[in-house]
Amino acid sequence: MTKIATLTLNPAVDKNTKFEGLVAEHKIRCEQPIYDAGGGGINVSKAIKRLGGESTAFFPVGGPIGDLLKSLIKKESVTLETIESKAWTRENFIAVDITTNAQYRFGMPSPELTVEEFENILEKVKYYNPEILVVSGSLPENLSSLIFKRISEVFGEKKPKIVVDTSGDALKQALENGTHLIKPNHKELAKLLGLEKIEPNQVEHAAKTLIDKYDCEIVVVSMGPDGAMLYNKGRTHFVAAPKVEKKSTVGAGDSMVGGMVWALSQSLPLEDVLKWGVACGSAATMNEGTQLFKKDDAERLFDSL
Ligand SMILES: Nc1ncnc2c1ncn2[C@@H]1O[C@H](COP(=O)(O)OP(=O)(O)OP(=O)(O)O)[C@@H](O)[C@H]1O
Ligand SMILES: [Mg+2]
Repeated sequence: MTKIATLTLNPAVDKNTKFEGLVAEHKIRCEQPIYDAGGGGINVSKAIKRLGGESTAFFPVGGPIGDLLKSLIKKESVTLETIESKAWTRENFIAVDITTNAQYRFGMPSPELTVEEFENILEKVKYYNPEILVVSGSLPENLSSLIFKRISEVFGEKKPKIVVDTSGDALKQALENGTHLIKPNHKELAKLLGLEKIEPNQVEHAAKTLIDKYDCEIVVVSMGPDGAMLYNKGRTHFVAAPKVEKKSTVGAGDSMVGGMVWALSQSLPLEDVLKWGVACGSAATMNEGTQLFKKDDAERLFDSL
C-alpha cells in the first residue's frame, strides 16, 4: 500500500448553519450548526478515506477548537498526527440564507505557526516517511518562503512525491523546490504566470511553460464547471465536468486532489487519475455546505466520464 501523508498547516473547524433573511442590527436566528473538519490536507485525507484508501493527516492544533478538530477527524476514521501550537486553531463560519439560497463564507485569519512548531511537525512527517506528501490549503504567511525548501532539505534523496494545492507565493516556492503534481485552478495558474487571466485556449500552453521551467511532472488545471486539464510529458488530457445538481462548491478542489492522489496510489493511468479528480470534485458540489462527496456519487460520475 502506498504511504500517503497530508500536511495541513492552517487547519480549521467549519461551522455551518442556515438562517432566514440577512438583516443588519437585528438578531439573526440560526439553525443548529453542523461542524466539519476543514483545511486542504485534512479534506484530502477525508476524500481518500471515502474512496477506501488510507492516509495520515498531519496538522497543528491549539486550544479548544483544536480539540474539537481532532475529535471530528477521528469520527471520520482518518489517522492523524498532531503537534500542539500556541495559537488557537481557527473556526470558520459558513451560513446559507434560505430565503435567497446565498451562501456567506466567513474565513478567520490564519493563526501564527512558529518556525519551531513547523519544524516539529515536519520531523513527524519525516519519521512517517511517506511515498506521497500532499501539501494543501493556505499556508501561514510567515513560513511561506521556508516550507518547501525545508521539506526538500529534510528528506534529501528520499523526498516523497510532492503534491501541492496552494496559491500565490507559496505555490511558486513549491515549484522552485520541485514537485510531482500541482493543481492550480485557472485563476491561480494566471497569477503564477503574472497574468491577469488565462483564456481556456491558453491553459495548455501555460501548463507547458511551467513544466519546461520547473522540476514538475504533472500540472492539473481545474476549471470549475468546465472540468479540468492534465499536462504531463508533452501529453494533454481534458475531462469535461459532468452536469450535476450543484448545492455548494466548497471542498470541490480538495475532493478533486483527494480523488487524484487516491488514483495515483492505485497506479492508475493518468487519464483515469484526472477522471477520478473531476468525478470527486463534481460529486462534492452535489452536497451542501462544507461536506465533501459521497462515494456512490463519485463512482457513478466516474463511470459516466
Ligand atoms: N459548478 C460545478 N459543476 C460541476 N463540477 C464542478 C463545479 N465546480 C467545480 N466542479 C468540479 O470540481 C473540480 C474542481 O473545481 P474548481 O476548479 O472550482 O477548483 P478550485 O477553484 O480549486 O476549488 P476550491 O474553491 O474548492 O479550492 C472541477 O474540475 C470540477 O470537476
Ligand atoms: Mg482550490
